[in-house]
Amino acid sequence: KIVNGFDLFAYAKKKNLLLPAFNTTNLEMTKAIILGLNDAHLPGFIQISSNNLKLSDPGMIADLVRDFLENTETPIGLHLDHGKSFEDVRRCVDAGFTSVMVDASAYGFEDNIRAVRRAAEYCHFYDIPVEAELGAIRGKEDDNCSEADCKTDPALVEEFVDRSGCDTLAVSIGNVHGLEEIPRIDLPLLKEIAEVSPVPLVLHGGSGISFELIRNMKTYKMSKINYGSDLRQAYIKTFGKAYEVNHKEADLYGLSMKAVENVRQTACDLVRIINGF
Ligand code: G3H
Ligand code: ZN
Repeated sequence: KIVNGFDLFAYAKKKNLLLPAFNTTNLEMTKAIILGLNDAHLPGFIQISSNNLKLSDPGMIADLVRDFLENTETPIGLHLDHGKSFEDVRRCVDAGFTSVMVDASAYGFEDNIRAVRRAAEYCHFYDIPVEAELGAIRGKEDDNCSEADCKTDPALVEEFVDRSGCDTLAVSIGNVHGLEEIPRIDLPLLKEIAEVSPVPLVLHGGSGISFELIRNMKTYKMSKINYGSDLRQAYIKTFGKAYEVNHKEADLYGLSMKAVENVRQTACDLVRIINGF
């Protein structure tokens, strides 16, 4: 059974655990992430971004997750990552996703609040938590702001959370998407945000951030850490290496099985390490 997002956050809080949220792209990644979390006996989210829904539709992903979860024991939620439209939020909730993110960070403060509010009213009826983003996360997103301009302004946090109705808040504190730019985490800023935020916080761009730093963030209301690139690398490398060795390589089945094992191991290692196991 896919676990409800509110229940997953409550469970993690009770057990003092950080929840990783691993991005999936396709069937193999989905299976590997679920197996990895299950191997570690630790809870977490599997998530898919609005952009990726063009490749794998919400119903297909939800069916896959439900199917793979039949043989697992650890609590796992299914989350819409960087939800770009109300339509995507509705499609995912209707398909059985158990939490969503509304990423309206590219718009102004008021429009961001409006977009989150609309989704929250819909989602809360179904008991689904909503993550919002204040400030913008640099890297692959369409946010072309400078490092300083992107960061979350602590002075806006309380009003944003109260008026938008979001249940968790993704912050911009020097974290970046992807592996090209090196993240420079501003811990004093995170501390300031944590002091005023009425809701738990979320960190995007987990790949490339030191584990010690991530473990420290638990003291500052951090509850969910997104990992995308690290897992995609583990997947892609499997095929890249095989092709380098043999340009006539065509064993898609064998390599896909190997890729699943590599992603599974990476997910298992990550959830253990961020939780100090
Ligand atoms: O929403 C997805 C994450 O923020 C992924 O970031 O690819 O840098 O780990 P990452
Ligand atoms: Zn992200």
